[in-house]
Amino acid sequence: MNAQIPRDRTQVGTSPPAVSQFADGTPDAVRLDGVAKAFGSFVAVRDVNLSLRKGSLTSLLGPSGCGKTTLLRLIAGLETASRGEIAINGRSVGNVAIHKRNIGLVFQNYALFPHKTVAENIGFGLKYRGVAKAEMAAKIKRALDVVRLPGMEERYPNQLSGGQQQRIALARAVVFEPDVLLLDEPLSALDANLRDNMRVEIKLIQKALGLTTILVTHDQQEALAMSDEIVVMNQGVVQQIGDPKSVYRFPRNRFVAGFLGQANICGCEVLESAADTSGQWRVRLDNGTELWAVPGGETRQMPVRAGDRADVVIRGSDMKLSVSEPRDAALPGNRLAGSIVDSSYLGDDTQYVVDVGGTNFKLSQRTSREDGAGAGDLLRPGTRVFITVARDACAILGVS
Ligand SMILES: Nc1ncnc2c1ncn2[C@@H]1O[C@H](COP(=O)(O)OP(=O)(O)OP(=O)(O)O)[C@@H](O)[C@H]1O
Ligand SMILES: [Mg+2]
Repeated sequence: MNAQIPRDRTQVGTSPPAVSQFADGTPDAVRLDGVAKAFGSFVAVRDVNLSLRKGSLTSLLGPSGCGKTTLLRLIAGLETASRGEIAINGRSVGNVAIHKRNIGLVFQNYALFPHKTVAENIGFGLKYRGVAKAEMAAKIKRALDVVRLPGMEERYPNQLSGGQQQRIALARAVVFEPDVLLLDEPLSALDANLRDNMRVEIKLIQKALGLTTILVTHDQQEALAMSDEIVVMNQGVVQQIGDPKSVYRFPRNRFVAGFLGQANICGCEVLESAADTSGQWRVRLDNGTELWAVPGGETRQMPVRAGDRADVVIRGSDMKLSVSEPRDAALPGNRLAGSIVDSSYLGDDTQYVVDVGGTNFKLSQRTSREDGAGAGDLLRPGTRVFITVARDACAILGVS
């Protein structure tokens, strides 16, 4: 279990200075200390502390309006922080104008100049920086090679597909070798297939160039697939920071559990601890169902006492469905009896809604033919079923 304990650099609701370097001595490429932004009386970003490793890709993930773009604009210098400090490569940038921050920007709508060629679009930032003509042509050529559109110099944006335009926007952002690359929902205008390909391409380009990158997205799959670190935000407040696996496996609160992946979240009362040293607790869900669960959160150290009110979080992917009662009664997993409410065939997976004691649980099973839950034989509403879920896959959160 210890091996799974993730790093926790989240500082929710407090504002101690962020460390200026990581434990292995790597200096942080971007650092935010107690950064806040208010528009009039509305606080869009609250007390954010962040430190980003050089060459890493960090996602800002959260629902619409949670402050992702505002935070990106603060780092870019398009907005001024109401409070706090932002440093890039150890240099405070509070008084540094946007064009002197050496930041590459890509927005959702590509924003290429329609009447300029690809070469002129990519070269725009270089011209501004006074790069000589011959050097400029060489850099443009290299940037086009990087985004795998060689020889496209003389085309106009309207002669390119959406995915190609987005790659030109990326070439334009990386051509002057920025210290930081900021991407705001760069893939949202693309269709699903192209988006998948571009995710991989951006990641490869980012790694090949060793670019410290911040990606804004509200798409959890995108964040999970692309990031070294995910910063989950809600209502201007950072909820959790960690690598994709630990944020998914060990959400720190109800919001993160519900936002990232499919989670069943039920109110419960904590009854008693297990007599052994397993750290498990017996809990009674609000629908009367009793099961064993373990304290959750990043370090699995959430303090729990008998009599506490809390939430139990169970991932749908951790629940196994069967139509016959599991035979081995000695298995330590929780076993819940219920009935199918709904089933949706999603190709690789089948998603079920199961009523357990009056509460609907959502779970997904790999589509298979073996247990009567196959593609040609979805379980019908009303079918009696059993759910098995490991005790340590039931996390106690939100203790009060
Ligand atoms: N210039 C502004 N003046 C007033 N309010 C603003 C301004 N810019 C942003 N806001 C508000 O700040 C909040 C955060 O906006 P922001 O654009 O950062 O959200 P977001 O997380 O990027 O959302 P989305 O996913 O929809 O792009 C919103 O409530 C927005 O209305
Ligand atoms: Mg936004």
